[in-house]
Amino acid sequence: MDFDKCENIKVEKEDGITFLSINRPEKRNAMSPAVHQEMFDALAYLEADDETEVLVIAGVGESWSAGQDLREFFREYENRPPVDTKRYMETNEGWRQHRLSMYDKPTIAMVNGYCIGGAFTQLCSCDFAIASDDATFSLSEINWGILPGGVVTWTIANTLNPRDAMYYCCTGEAFDGKKAEAMGLINKSVPADQLKAEVVKLANEMRKKNPEVLRATKQAVRRVRGMDYFQALDYLAAKMSEIRMRDKEDSFHQGLTQFLDEKSYRPSFEPFKRPAAE
Ligand code: COA
Repeated sequence: MDFDKCENIKVEKEDGITFLSINRPEKRNAMSPAVHQEMFDALAYLEADDETEVLVIAGVGESWSAGQDLREFFREYENRPPVDTKRYMETNEGWRQHRLSMYDKPTIAMVNGYCIGGAFTQLCSCDFAIASDDATFSLSEINWGILPGGVVTWTIANTLNPRDAMYYCCTGEAFDGKKAEAMGLINKSVPADQLKAEVVKLANEMRKKNPEVLRATKQAVRRVRGMDYFQALDYLAAKMSEIRMRDKEDSFHQGLTQFLDEKSYRPSFEPFKRPAAE
């Protein structure tokens, strides 16, 4: 994929970490249909890209994303035929929910500023989220006549505690990074000048893990939530077999040997030494 030809997104690669940004700073990175199409294509490409070990979703300028574009989607699609809306929903839900939430590689939301309305979808679809203290979060929908649609209400109800979910959906009250951390919406809030360093630190932690084990683990964490006990037991056993089948490093035996026989590391505090990393 030729990222230089993309007008709405930006891709930067640094030592195994790919920063994929929405690039419409003049519109506070509101998501137009063109943004969704480029993000949809980029995510598909980067999932199979050898240079991308960890994916960071970022935003150019002072905003992470001001949500769906009120003009180019909400107003302009109002009178379009249902087939157009359906097609639009496929790309916009496609990259943010279907692909991102079960991405093969670890994903981090690096929230540098506004995170409004529909942007909560990709926020919660990322495996991790780190924001700057001065980021601004708002479920603004109540303030302009709709409910948090797409799957935002579902996402929020699944992520926040019931009191916070109700409160912020019904008031639209804005809150900052520290509050988002206290609510468990994000993992961490840091001063703006430390945001990228903190994200890179976490990304590099992820790069030390075996990618197949990590992939299965993060997908399992998402999937088991909707299952009962017996379904989860069965699913996790199958996922365990999947790891054994896909993991070329044989992490399981490597890990046991390094701990039990070589006594070269302690699993409680660090990952086993991967052959690829030596
Ligand atoms: N959709 C379309 N355009 C948007 C937008 C959105 N979600 N958010 C911002 N913009 C546009 C503005 O219309 C403006 O365009 P213009 O320069 O052509 O007039 C430009 O981005 C800058 O916005 P502005 O409001 O002047 O910037 P600000 O820094 O003062 O405020 C926000 C930023 C994000 C707080 C404010 O723009 C806002 O509340 N946007 C709506 C966010 C929202 O409710 N999103 C929910 C969608 S699901």
